[in-house]
Amino acid sequence: MSCPMNPANDGAQMAFDGKMSYGDYLHLEPVLNAQHPLGEAHDEMLFIIQHQTSELWMKLAIHELRAATANLAAEDVAACMKKLARVARIFEQLNSAWDVLRTMTPSEYLEFRDDLHQSSGFQSYQYREIEFLVGNKNKEMLRPHAHVPELYAHLEACLNAPSLYDQVTLLLARRGFEIPAELLDRDWSEPRGSHAALREAWRKVYRNPQDHWELYALAEKLVDFEDYFRRWRFNHLVTVQRIIGSKRGTGGTSGVAYLDQMLSTVLFHELWEVRADL
Ligand code: HEM
Repeated sequence: MSCPMNPANDGAQMAFDGKMSYGDYLHLEPVLNAQHPLGEAHDEMLFIIQHQTSELWMKLAIHELRAATANLAAEDVAACMKKLARVARIFEQLNSAWDVLRTMTPSEYLEFRDDLHQSSGFQSYQYREIEFLVGNKNKEMLRPHAHVPELYAHLEACLNAPSLYDQVTLLLARRGFEIPAELLDRDWSEPRGSHAALREAWRKVYRNPQDHWELYALAEKLVDFEDYFRRWRFNHLVTVQRIIGSKRGTGGTSGVAYLDQMLSTVLFHELWEVRADL
């Protein structure tokens, strides 16, 4: 009979009295004790963990997007692209996560849905922060956070700051492209539709990638990110449709019809439009 391996013989640390362990470093105690199902339904744990892990990935996405935006302001396009690539992979990861949630049937969800009352992902402040950071500005989305003044102020500051795409626009101007003043100094809290001059700038970049390689690569990183973000919205919608059909959401909206409307959100208008010009 072979003896079980003793990792101590291989040098593994086995005693942690007074020393920092894995769990200490990661603060696993609060993280793993933050799941509090309100009822007895087996699937509520899945629902909670799915949301919590999504929020953790969103936290990382915010960390990366903020740094990527600062990189652009500092003219470090390479560092920005590195971070954008990571954010796109985060969304890819979040997209795969829907497959786990989809194993929950409508009847299993109904076992605990009433306990959620009016709470809904609609009130995810990190999701709103991501939207504001990448340029999907909407003042109305601040309102569900008015009851937490610090959070409201944080989101409001984010709404009022230039977005990632605004910083890209400022960069294009610094690189000599003709960008009208109204795009360079504006009320950053307002959403921005498509702009002909910006489309023209991207046309020059895409028609001649060799001459504008850095901007071209940056543009494709932005498109890649938006592509994965859109897939997240779409996967959310289909998952929701599969679980609640045409019922209203716990957050009070029309549910799938609301999410369907959100699917038409475009972040980097001109980057999608320019494809038709080539
Ligand atoms: C059983 C699973 C889920 C259902 C039935 C569901 C349903 C809904 C519905 C109906 C809405 C529209 C607002 C409302 O009236 O409630 C919504 C919004 C939202 N949900 Fe979910 N959801 C689910 C899972 C998730 C997960 C895992 C996340 C990840 C964090 C999430 C994040 C969001 C976000 C961010 C919004 C706001 C979208 C926007 O305003 O554009 N949802 N959800």
